Parts: sequence; C-alpha cells; structure tokens
Amino acid sequence: MDANSINHLPHVLVVAPNPDRREFLEATLSPYFEVTSDADVDRVILADESESARAQVIVIDQNGRTDPNSERYLTHCERLKSKIPGLIATAAPDLSFDLRDVAPKVPARFLRWPIERQDLLEAVSQVIGEKTEHIWREELAEEIGKPLTYTVDEYQHISNAIAAGKPVDCEKAAESCKPLVDAVSTGNHHTLLTAVQSHHNYTYVHSMRVATLLTLFGHGLGMTEDDLLVLSTGGLVHDVGKLVTPAEILDKPGKLTEEEWPIMRDHVLHSTKILGKSNDVNRGVFIIAGQHHEKLDGSGYPNGLKSAELNELARMSAIVDIFGALTDKRSYKPAFPTEKAFGILESMTEQIDQHLLGMFRDIFEPGSEVTQQAA
Ligand SMILES: [Fe+2]
Ligand SMILES: [Fe+2]
Repeated sequence: MDANSINHLPHVLVVAPNPDRREFLEATLSPYFEVTSDADVDRVILADESESARAQVIVIDQNGRTDPNSERYLTHCERLKSKIPGLIATAAPDLSFDLRDVAPKVPARFLRWPIERQDLLEAVSQVIGEKTEHIWREELAEEIGKPLTYTVDEYQHISNAIAAGKPVDCEKAAESCKPLVDAVSTGNHHTLLTAVQSHHNYTYVHSMRVATLLTLFGHGLGMTEDDLLVLSTGGLVHDVGKLVTPAEILDKPGKLTEEEWPIMRDHVLHSTKILGKSNDVNRGVFIIAGQHHEKLDGSGYPNGLKSAELNELARMSAIVDIFGALTDKRSYKPAFPTEKAFGILESMTEQIDQHLLGMFRDIFEPGSEVTQQAA
C-alpha cells in the first residue's frame, strides 16, 4: 500500500485550459485534496509524467471530442491506462462522449457543465474509494483484506438500504464483522487501523476504526466471541445516522457554526431511528449507537444521561469514539499522535470513565507506562 495515500491528502491533478473552469475545479477540490492544476495538456503529457503518475485522480476538462487537446490527452490516457488510478472528465452539456469508451479499466466518472460542487466532490471521492477497494481486494494479505472488503461492502449495502428507506439488516452487518473479530484476535488491529485510512468515505473509515478499537478493547477485557461481534457490529453501525446528515455539514473542512452543530448532533437520533426499524438489532449495538456521545457528568447528547445511567458499553464506546476521531486524519487536521489523544481523554476527568480509559490504554499500547517512565 502506498504510504502517501495514508499519511497525506489524496493528490488530484486538474487539467483545464479554460481559466474559469480551472478555477472552479481547483477552488472546489482544494479544501479536501492536494490539488495541482495545469492549463496545458501537452505540458502534462510530455513534461511531467511523474505528476500524472503521482495523482490518484486526474480531472480533465474537455472542450469536445474533436478538440485536439482532448484527443491528445485521451490518447495519453489510453497509453497510461494501467497507471492512471482514476479519471474524471468534465465536458459541455452537448457532448455525448462517454469516458468508459476510453478508460474501461480505471475508475472513471463523466460530469457535464454546469457542475454542482457536491457532485464533483462525490465523484472524486467515489473514484478514490473504488481505487482503494481494488487494492484491498487484489494486493492485501487475506487477514487484512477480508475485514476491510467485507465491511466496506456491507457499509455500501447499509447506505443503499437507508437511501431506499429500507431497514438495515443487522444480522448481515454482524456477519460482515466476523473477519474483523478474527483479525483483532490475531493481533492485526494496528495494520487495519492504518490501512483503512486510505479510503475516502470518512464515515466508513471512522466507523471501521471505532469497530476495530471497540473489538480490541473487548478482547483485552476478556469478553466472549459473541460479545466481540456485538462490539464490532456496534462500531460499524454506530454513526449510520450520519448517512442522512447533509454532506456540506458532515464534511465541512473546519469548525461548525452554532446553527450547524444541532444538525450534526442529530446524527445520533437518526441512528437510533434507523436501527429501531430493524427487527434484529442487538440491544448492545443499539446502546453503542445511541449513547456514544453521552458523558458521565451529563454534558453529553442526545439525552444528557449521567454516570449511573451509562453502562460499561456506553462508557467504552464514548472513549473509543473520541480516541478514534482524534487519531483520524481529516482534510483540515492531521491525525493526532496516540500520546496526544490519550492526554486529551485523560484531561476529561468528569466526562470519561478514567478507570476504563486506563485499561484501554494498556490494551492499545501494552507496556506504555513502563516506556513513559523510562523516557
Ligand atoms: Fe457519533
Ligand atoms: Fe463516531
């Protein structure tokens, strides 16, 4: 796996001779991706092959199928087919050209002007996701590839079910988590936590990391295999309500406004409503989804529950959800080192169960206290 794709934002190369279109493409993508752009197709083709090889997605604006720039670029694409990870062509509304003719083997999307910001962002994210999943399927060892591909496929099924207003099949979700439980039980959790970050669906990435961390937590506490499956399933579906949160709030690169926060917090109510429609939801899974933002001092949401009302599962998921979010990379913040994340959690003395936190830290990084003393 390319270390670049894990530690840095994905690189998108924009090739657009028209300055207005180039500016729009760049301005839309740059808060979320590392963007470089060029007006000159020949320069990209001839002078900087390494730039196109480094890009995870190339966005090429076409003036027409007979446009000499497009022709030259598409010939270039043909030649580079196996090297180009993803391709997005943008074109005038009267063009009937379909990119799949040119690049049948690479993830590709075709967008017509005028292009909505959100459609462009979604297309780039989907192309990166498809490329990542291809690598997971083809190149990773089975014990890592299986937990990733099973859960990403299941997350897609869950998204489709929610979009169609159908209930989530919780039994199938649990089934998809079995390789994850196996991977954690055989000590592969750190590899999983890193590898999943190359995907570009952040809600899935966060959910998969929470599922892995919760399973690791339970494994370290000596829980049974059935309980570990509840923890992993609960982690995977704990934020399903975010699938109905507007994308401009969910993926906002920066702080939310006072008006936006309540909409973001509502994801918990959406999650419990969605899971409540399912007739096979496990009670533990429901608690993880409904109570992972509650705090011991009653300052959490949605119900402001207090310590006596929060069982071990709720306390564990609160710890893991915060730890997972802090150690995730986002377009607007790097991943915090685990040391810093634990420091933040340890300062939340009134809100987080510190006894459980100490156990989680020991499980996550065995011997860490000894190392710190030695340092
Ligand atoms: Fe959440
Ligand atoms: Fe979460």
